[in-house]
Amino acid sequence: MKKTAAELRSQRWFATQDLRGFGHRSRILQLGHEREDMEGKPVIAILNTWSEVNHCHSHLRERAEEVKRGVWQAGGFPIEMPAISLAEVFQKPTTMMYRNLLAMETEELLRSYPVDGCVLMGGCDKTGPGLLMGAISMNLPAIFVPAGPMLRGNWQGRTLGSGSDAWKYWDELRAGRITERDWQQIEEGISRSPGTCMTMGTASTMTGIIETLGFSLPSASTIPAVDSGHARMAKASGRRIVEMVWEDLTPRRILSPQSVDNAIRVLMALGGSTNALIHVIAMAGRAGIPLNLDRFEELGRQTPYLVNMRPAGQYLMEDFHYAGGMAALMEGMGALLHRDALTCTGRTLGENVANARIHLPDVIRTPGNPIQPEGGLRVLRGNLAPDGAVIKANAADPRLLQHTGRAVVFDNYDQMAARIDSPDLDVDADSVLILRNAGPLGGPGMPEWGMLPIPKKLLRQGVRDMVRISDARMSGTSYGTCVLHVAPESFVGGPLALVREGDLVRLDVAARRLDLLVSEEEMTARRAAWQPPAPRFARGYGAIFSKHIRQAPQGCDFDFLEGTAPTAEPEIH
Ligand code: FES
Repeated sequence: MKKTAAELRSQRWFATQDLRGFGHRSRILQLGHEREDMEGKPVIAILNTWSEVNHCHSHLRERAEEVKRGVWQAGGFPIEMPAISLAEVFQKPTTMMYRNLLAMETEELLRSYPVDGCVLMGGCDKTGPGLLMGAISMNLPAIFVPAGPMLRGNWQGRTLGSGSDAWKYWDELRAGRITERDWQQIEEGISRSPGTCMTMGTASTMTGIIETLGFSLPSASTIPAVDSGHARMAKASGRRIVEMVWEDLTPRRILSPQSVDNAIRVLMALGGSTNALIHVIAMAGRAGIPLNLDRFEELGRQTPYLVNMRPAGQYLMEDFHYAGGMAALMEGMGALLHRDALTCTGRTLGENVANARIHLPDVIRTPGNPIQPEGGLRVLRGNLAPDGAVIKANAADPRLLQHTGRAVVFDNYDQMAARIDSPDLDVDADSVLILRNAGPLGGPGMPEWGMLPIPKKLLRQGVRDMVRISDARMSGTSYGTCVLHVAPESFVGGPLALVREGDLVRLDVAARRLDLLVSEEEMTARRAAWQPPAPRFARGYGAIFSKHIRQAPQGCDFDFLEGTAPTAEPEIH
């Protein structure tokens, strides 16, 4: 049933005939707005993660104007509010440490101000999940405007993909196969427009998943950032959010176990980033939908890998969009998806994509002609990862998916960086590189260190992949036989903390196993001798983070933010 103007939440601020109401109205007038703007128009907060430090969001200031135009057109009242930007490349130790801060900021901005609905503007890796987690908790109508991917990179006529080609050519430079001049040109050509990484990294994976969950307009997530269609999508999102407020179409009406299953299946079809497991669990948790790694494994076995994109495949986001975009992928997936899941359009997912077609069948495959019959992400367990670990098998050398090798252990990132290229490092192509103290507490924030570099002396021998194991994450643009998210992490005494140089480690992806070939008695003795490290933070946000962060298989949310306990509405005094 349609909401009435008197029922708008913002009217609690603007409609009261008392001194507080006077204050609220006079200050809106001070901003240059009209009296009619506060009289029964839905107030739409535009939560914009634009900032001058965010390389991927440089166009979002302009896009916010287009969103506002749409809101005005539909009879709403837009108010832009900045939110912490989380610039993937610059923020240290990692943006992941601040995802929950953005989620808290989003929830509190929506809670404490006169807002009826919101447009979430983000895309660079953690911004999408952070914004959506907060909006789910506040449960006001919300639509997501993805920043859109940047144009494909170019170097001497060769296509460059974000991240993936940086790693690739960095190894070539270290191996002496390209020059410093080549490397400089690659630096100049790899990121040549506004927008998010254009490989199937975390940004493209998460914006695709957020669309699949029902929070963006059809194919919004694949439109290149600089395409004029992107501006039109922003405007249309502004129009739509006003209708969503009248329809009271809230996030928890959109999210359901079915839409979460759809997101997992699309993740598998995309060959998407391992980061998505953490974010999807966290987002579902905000809606009270229980989700664990086993569901990813189960749906991964039933869902083919369909989108031929780097780092696992060949193409980039521009190609994906020209091939028909997310809508065409979902239409092609047919009965693999719950087509009756409700979306932000007010229609079902099936209705949204019914007219979409695949134009480039080598970019978007169908279940009848998949790249691989199963999704690329595998969940591993064993005595080295009792609570689970993850590998992106389709980005690994198939030769290494079943492998036993001697451990070469690095206690932390700095030690690894100092030793990895040493000629004295006792390592060969069959060794297993292990990095610890890189998890949620140990990193802190699980930095994307999981694609450990190949030792220089092995690069010179032509080695390009090795088994690497850590409690870190890995950029979605990375590749290689990298076992990630090992849980529990080493910082809290997980088995990774007990591995010693020279121990044998066995990876068997087909059996979904990761094991340390050391006797249980020896493990018990090592566990008894293990000393916990000193806490990382004595004060500030880091101290809150350390106290409340959950492990990777639980989504790395803060324990006090999970679930659907109601967010108290503020008193208007
Ligand atoms: Fe922003 Fe990759 S650095 S999306």
